[in-house]
Amino acid sequence: MMRGKFIALEGGEGAGKSTQARLLAEALRARGQACVVTREPGGTVGAEAIRALLLGTEGDGWHPRAEALLFAAARSDHVERLIVPALERGDWVVCDRFVDSSRAYQGGGSGLSDAELLDLHRIGSGGLLPDLTLLIEVAPEIVEQRLTARDGDEADRIGGRDAQFHAAVSAAFRRFAEAEPARFARIDGNESPEQVHASVMAALGPLLP
Ligand code: TYD
Repeated sequence: MMRGKFIALEGGEGAGKSTQARLLAEALRARGQACVVTREPGGTVGAEAIRALLLGTEGDGWHPRAEALLFAAARSDHVERLIVPALERGDWVVCDRFVDSSRAYQGGGSGLSDAELLDLHRIGSGGLLPDLTLLIEVAPEIVEQRLTARDGDEADRIGGRDAQFHAAVSAAFRRFAEAEPARFARIDGNESPEQVHASVMAALGPLLP
């Protein structure tokens, strides 16, 4: 059995990652390729419980190191229980956010070093990396319109941080993609969902079944 491919979608809030994950999964299934769609933080019972701890707005929140450890712990459970078994069965895994979100949000946005975050990922998840990471990039003014339509005033603890934080996150994602062009595909997310999906399929070209 050939190991499945692991595809991550990354980007800031309101980039359209979950819509693109769904459209990609439908396209893969239409080609006869079994696939699992999942998200981070979450994807397993344990990781969803950690998600609630991380994103809930009650209490005082976490300091940056505790937050990074919780994301890494959630990812560890998700990798071990869901992602690796699916890949070993030959399924593709389409994941809404993965380790580059920790590097961008806990690193670029909150000040842990990239080396520390990669250490946590090595300890928690054996350093597993996606075969391809699709970075969906959207202009800040378009994101703002989409988020107001989607969430109103109800942002979660991390999504609700200020514009400067989110700008640092976007800049970090861009740096990662520039540093590792073979592992990342940059996707223009400003267009309609169908157009963005076409760009996703084009970027996946050589990997597609
Ligand atoms: P979610 O609602 O899933 O994201 P989105 O805004 O993309 O719809 O919320 C996940 C939040 O957690 C989001 O603000 C990004 C943040 N996050 C991190 O800070 N680090 C991580 O490692 C991951 C996976 C997410």
